Amino acid sequence: MRFQAPRGTEDVLPADSHKWVRLESAFRSLAGRYGYREIRTPTFEDRDLFLRTAGESSDVVTKQMYEFQDKGGRDICLKAEGTAPAMRAMIEHGLLQPGTVQKVFYVTPVFRYERPQKGRLREHHQVGIELIGSPSPAADAEVIEIAVEFYRGLGLRDFRVLVNSIGREDCRDRYRAALLEFAEPMLASMSEEGLAQARKNPLRLLDSKDPAMIEWMKSAPLILDYLEPESAERFKRLQTYLKDAGIDFEVAPRIVRGLDYYTETVFELDSSQIGAQGAIGGGGRYDGLIEQIGGPPTPSVGFGIGIERALLALEAAGVEFQPEASRVFVASAGEAHFDRALALSRELRAQGCSVLNDPDGRSLKSQFRQADKAGATYIVILGDEEADQEKVSLKDLRTGDQEMLSWEAARARILS
Ligand code: HAM
Repeated sequence: MRFQAPRGTEDVLPADSHKWVRLESAFRSLAGRYGYREIRTPTFEDRDLFLRTAGESSDVVTKQMYEFQDKGGRDICLKAEGTAPAMRAMIEHGLLQPGTVQKVFYVTPVFRYERPQKGRLREHHQVGIELIGSPSPAADAEVIEIAVEFYRGLGLRDFRVLVNSIGREDCRDRYRAALLEFAEPMLASMSEEGLAQARKNPLRLLDSKDPAMIEWMKSAPLILDYLEPESAERFKRLQTYLKDAGIDFEVAPRIVRGLDYYTETVFELDSSQIGAQGAIGGGGRYDGLIEQIGGPPTPSVGFGIGIERALLALEAAGVEFQPEASRVFVASAGEAHFDRALALSRELRAQGCSVLNDPDGRSLKSQFRQADKAGATYIVILGDEEADQEKVSLKDLRTGDQEMLSWEAARARILS
């Protein structure tokens, strides 16, 4: 019987894993430069954590949770997003001291039962940050700047930064009522499920997949017209900070985001190069989330970037990722020279080189083929003639040149 990876999941194969390593290490280094430290949380959580925060009207909760009861009868859900688990951990470990700012980042798998397509998976991976404890629009700007810097640093230029404000609870209540009223003539033609979702949270109407509703909502009222004066002022200050940071952005009043915990600032990074699933990152402020799950009131803001989508966008833009350090193959002609091959390999590895050899003692020809396949830069050859002269042969696979040298000279060339 042959097995396949579950639908909506992807294997990262050896030929591609260096791209993941590069992307993750670029992210870790960037987050570190802004003072963020890593947090790692479990792959599964109490199901109610997501219900309380992502919200009962979100697709993530109503349709996409990977939930099950464990053998102890607990309701469990695979991590449906990264923010609530990180905040759960901060509260649980008493890390939220009033008046202090905490900065955390994560690299995590995320599980959502979605209809798979290019860029949309059932297990995807995110890099994300959370700036916890600051109400300032400067904090929002920092978070957006980091998302933008991440892509710029990797060489992506062609993406849009869309920002919006969805204000506070009062404003959203008034706006929800206005949206529902506006959509009234269309509600009769909606599915029961869609209608229930729209009644629970009319903001979801803005994310409708129904072409008629999409068309209708094009002239829907805009949330920016409903903002409280403080939120409008805050949003203006955010835009000033972004301009000062040299970030090109667009105000996109229809972006409300698919998770219910957002307040005030929301944003998305969008690529037009990777098909229908163009959101290559998104986030916003979630001033009520921590209190909702039992912590002290703590205004916070963050983002998540999908690694698979980031890689699609970078590849579409022609960004190249070089595989890791060049490899050396130390080949031995016959068993008599194998011990020396191992000793020289160890010496090179101690200097940080990636070194291969053939543990099965195949022919030199076969070892050459192996070296070629592995993308080796050099082959060190140990045979009778080399042993007699107390030398090694060094072949540069890029040029095809081969020379007999002292080991010291060969090693110096490999390491140079
Ligand atoms: P999100 O927008 O649901 O936000 O996901 C963040 C990013 O993850 C998306 O912009 C996209 O790049 C990627 N993504 C989402 N779903 C999939 C999928 N099914 N397949 C592939 N990639 C996907 C959050 O999850 C929030 N926790 C972000 C945040 C952090 N907000 C505040 N702090």
